Amino acid sequence: MVPVELAVIIPTFKERDNIEPLLESLRLSLRGIEYEVIFVDDDSPDGTAAATRAISRTNPRVRVLQRIGRRGLSSACLEGMMATAAPYIAVMDGDLQHDERILPAMLSQLKAGSLDLVVATRNKEGGGMGDFAGHRVRLSHLGRRLSRIVSHTDLSDPMSGFFVVDRNFLEEVIHSASGTGFKILLDLVASSRRPVRFAEVPYTFRKRIRGTSKLDILVGIEYLQLLLDKTIGKLIPPRFFIFSMVGTLGMLLSICVLYLLFSVLAMHFAMAQAITTFVAMTANFFLNNSLTYRDRRLRGRRVVMGLLTFYAACFVGAVVSVRIAQFLKDNGVPWYLAGACGLAVGAVWNYGVTSITTWRQARERWSTPGRQN
Ligand code: GDD
Ligand code: MN
Repeated sequence: MVPVELAVIIPTFKERDNIEPLLESLRLSLRGIEYEVIFVDDDSPDGTAAATRAISRTNPRVRVLQRIGRRGLSSACLEGMMATAAPYIAVMDGDLQHDERILPAMLSQLKAGSLDLVVATRNKEGGGMGDFAGHRVRLSHLGRRLSRIVSHTDLSDPMSGFFVVDRNFLEEVIHSASGTGFKILLDLVASSRRPVRFAEVPYTFRKRIRGTSKLDILVGIEYLQLLLDKTIGKLIPPRFFIFSMVGTLGMLLSICVLYLLFSVLAMHFAMAQAITTFVAMTANFFLNNSLTYRDRRLRGRRVVMGLLTFYAACFVGAVVSVRIAQFLKDNGVPWYLAGACGLAVGAVWNYGVTSITTWRQARERWSTPGRQN
């Protein structure tokens, strides 16, 4: 048996109708290369995994890794990459937007130059964004600038989800990769402790024909999370940072609501204050649910329970915060420092408690078949 030289890892979510044409294109492009394809599917409700498995029964090059109760592009890629023994590993989208015809060139560059990585780029001469929407192009440029700061590598397309790595490089960095969000390439490069030896091959991003993009504007938050993780991640958990940002936003919101109720509508102060608190807590809950805990987002009935535990935790947090501030102030600490300490302790409390109650990593999820996106 000839050993597999190249593994192509393809993350999928609701791509059922793209699998067959994709495999056919790979077959044509990878003639003469011993390859295997590993699809990592997050239990797509459209049955992508089952359809792909049906193909793999007669095509020994194809394997399916179906993850249950999980979502996430980066972690899907990482797990697929660790499921192969091939010396060279490609990552590519499963929607035919990446031009598979450049794979052989990428592979031969990787081998010839003893490089760590070859990236398919849309931002070099000969490549292009296709008809990517204008705002996505601008976002991509901003992302490029930010990525240079965390990765110390001048990739022309750090957001690319299309690249080939040398297995040794992967093994060198995998333990430091964060695996959150969808920026798998940046994650790998930023996890390296030495300069990464890389080359770039230009291509034109194709238009999506079937299905829809799963990356919406909120993935920007995940990008921020990855950047934070790679910069201040050792000091402050990025999730706590975002939780605090949301909290600050909530505080600004409550000042506005209080102003409206008390000053404009002339409501009784205690009443205005109580309503304000509930509005702010509710807003914070929903913001945290869709931003800070996007990966564990509560839906349906769980929202109600989540909201209740969130209220309870915040209520206790507020009491603790006030008590501490009072105690410090009584002991001669200036009022602003006492207040700030109270707030900080309250924030840590709220974060700690809600992360293990409201957004506890639910075990039951494993038994819930087919979630919606
Ligand atoms: N397993 C798994 N889990 N796969 C996923 C998930 C997920 O949660 N979300 C998306 N995918 C798969 C899709 O099925 C597709 O094969 C691939 O990941 C890319 O997803 P798209 O939804 O098509 O992303 P895009 O076309 O908007 O974004 C592309 O361009 C970005 C550049 O801005 C991708 O190549 C990104 O990687 C790239 O960063
Ligand atoms: Mn796509």
